[in-house]
Amino acid sequence: METIRIGVCGWGNVATGLFRSIKDNKNEININSGIDIKIEVIGARRDNPKCDPGKVKIERDIFKVIDHDIDVVVELIGGVETAKKLILTAIKSKKHVVTANKAVIYHHGDEIFREARKNNVKVLYESAVCAGTPIIKLLTEELAANKVSKISGMLNGTSNFILSNMENGADFDSTLSFAQKEGYAEPDPTFDIEGLDAAHKIGILSALCYGTTLPPEDFYVEGISKIDNSDFRYAMEMGYTIKHLAVSSISNNKIELRAHPVLISLNSYLANLKGVRNGIEIDTDLLGTLHIAGSGAGQESTASGIISDLVHLANANTNTYDDNNSNKKYTMRSFNDLSFQYYFYIEAEDIPGVMASITSIFAKKNIGIESIVQKENLDKNLVPIVLISDDFIEKEHSDLLAQVLELESVNKIRSIRIEPN
Ligand SMILES: NC(=O)c1ccc[n+]([C@@H]2O[C@H](COP(=O)([O-])OP(=O)(O)OC[C@H]3O[C@@H](n4cnc5c(N)ncnc54)[C@H](OP(=O)(O)O)[C@@H]3O)[C@@H](O)[C@H]2O)c1
Repeated sequence: METIRIGVCGWGNVATGLFRSIKDNKNEININSGIDIKIEVIGARRDNPKCDPGKVKIERDIFKVIDHDIDVVVELIGGVETAKKLILTAIKSKKHVVTANKAVIYHHGDEIFREARKNNVKVLYESAVCAGTPIIKLLTEELAANKVSKISGMLNGTSNFILSNMENGADFDSTLSFAQKEGYAEPDPTFDIEGLDAAHKIGILSALCYGTTLPPEDFYVEGISKIDNSDFRYAMEMGYTIKHLAVSSISNNKIELRAHPVLISLNSYLANLKGVRNGIEIDTDLLGTLHIAGSGAGQESTASGIISDLVHLANANTNTYDDNNSNKKYTMRSFNDLSFQYYFYIEAEDIPGVMASITSIFAKKNIGIESIVQKENLDKNLVPIVLISDDFIEKEHSDLLAQVLELESVNKIRSIRIEPN
């Protein structure tokens, strides 16, 4: 049986989960892959009371891990700059690298892969996108014969958990507090709820599928913090729910890259994926539309992705799926040039003529209105209006919002894009 010798840098959640999974699932790994994974050394600047590393050598300086007689450095420290330095040092020392770190791949992937090619080593990162849900290998191996025209999905478990609860009537703040209490959201949830985590993941998938740069050039990112639970009520009356969707697609050699909330048809596959799970839809030419869903975080599922990378490295003739298609030709479609149909929530004074003043702004901009409905009064003087527009170009959007809000009778306006079926 072939042995792959690894050094693990970092000794937190993922590293200790990896240690346990390699130990507990040793037989499965040996039988299924014919590979034995041997942890030679762990870089831990302090002990972790939750895991005893047994007889494995410990280095307090994580960079010293690289000097050991190992085949692979497994980077599990997180963050960007030290992780980048560690990965580049490992590469220059001719060690393969496996990382679960989406941030370092998103910000420095191009440089890291360039150095890896130069030094004839691999950098694999299956668990950086949706933990162990095998999206990277699916795209690069199983779908290798396909042209992927669109990849879209809910790539952040925390956002999907919050939105699923809001769909059932909960409000944003109490659901976020609950998610933090249950461990589904970080104490500082900014990265998740402002869309950055999902943006990192779709940015990496876009680089993989289309050869866009890391970090990407033109990218629209918006989080879920402005969504109100009344938006769900109104959306559902019209046959939609609300999801945070990350999208990368290509047509006529132009790439669209975005991550933001959308109204999405209640009948769609993605609309029905609830809770902390991640879900991805892939449109291909040969295989049609494909779905994949799974846990996007957690010790065991992340360990599963890392182990699959290690097995991959140990197998001879491993392909070059760290090569991010750097010679593909494309241009980025500016987000401002995209068109969307929109949902608008407008809160206005209950006075005659208010609907007419709103619709005249749309008319002056040549933006069609599919429907406009005055809902039940919030109180004596305030009325919510739900308006669905026709498609219009994104660069009109912020000006339209500003003009409606300038009306004396309008108190509030918010909007959500509608994802085409
Ligand atoms: N948790 C998940 O479910 C999950 C899923 C997919 C991917 N990931 C990725 O996996 C990576 C690790 O996540 P985690 O949850 O295991 O984080 P964690 O629990 O915070 O562990 C990080 C470990 O790295 C060490 N470390 C951090 N900076 C260091 C430095 N400059 N020098 C030396 N040691 C350093 C920490 O040491 P101290 O304890 O001394 O600070 C700790 O042992 C991250 O990139 C994360 O995005 C995590």
